[in-house]
Amino acid sequence: MAREIRITPSILNADLTNLGREISRIASVSDLIHLDVMDNVFVPNFTFDFERASQIVKECPIAVDAHLMVADVDLIAPAYAEVGCSSVTIHAEATRNITSTLRAIRKAGARAGLGLKPATSIEAYADCLDEVDMFLIMTVEPGFGGQKFMYEILEKVKRTRAIIGDRPIWLQVDGGVSLETIGQASEAGADVFVAGSAVFKADDPASMILSLRNLAISVAD
Ligand code: DX5
Ligand code: ZN
Repeated sequence: MAREIRITPSILNADLTNLGREISRIASVSDLIHLDVMDNVFVPNFTFDFERASQIVKECPIAVDAHLMVADVDLIAPAYAEVGCSSVTIHAEATRNITSTLRAIRKAGARAGLGLKPATSIEAYADCLDEVDMFLIMTVEPGFGGQKFMYEILEKVKRTRAIIGDRPIWLQVDGGVSLETIGQASEAGADVFVAGSAVFKADDPASMILSLRNLAISVAD
């Protein structure tokens, strides 16, 4: 059976002063909105505190996929589920208790995601499969939009797909996804694609999302 392909546009590079308008340009063709939360500790950049992020989640007309790039994520992660995020991803490098935090996210009603920076091995987390609804494999160093896709991570994407096997776990790639790179990421086994600058720098963001999705579907098995 063909994998279902999802595009989750990141609003990191959207016009944050006019977010309602930015989201309305892409809402009809987006599967989820990817919300990058950065604390200037886990990554050298700051985006939103919890208060601002939860306001965005409440106002967003489509489901939100929160990507928490914050240190000591265990306490705050379930709160993102409680304010209505449909998916909440924590970083393996930022948690002290993966299992209980992933369980708390699910208990609060969201899908539980586990993110890995480029240097973090997937094999170390293969025993988390029962607690995870999505793996997020970073294809850039987290912190900024507009970086170059790291092709050397495609091997890790393939290994993650093999580890997932038949389980209904989503496999997301994030960073540098564009018309140039999405085909190879899809061939490697990814099925959820974050795209920030590719979408918001396009003249027509909605048609860019459709093109990205079509390209990913055309090579998915
Ligand atoms: C980077 C963020 C990404 C970023 C993607 O740390 O996690 O979601 O916004 O932006 P592009 O698609 O421009 O690489
Ligand atoms: Zn992200």
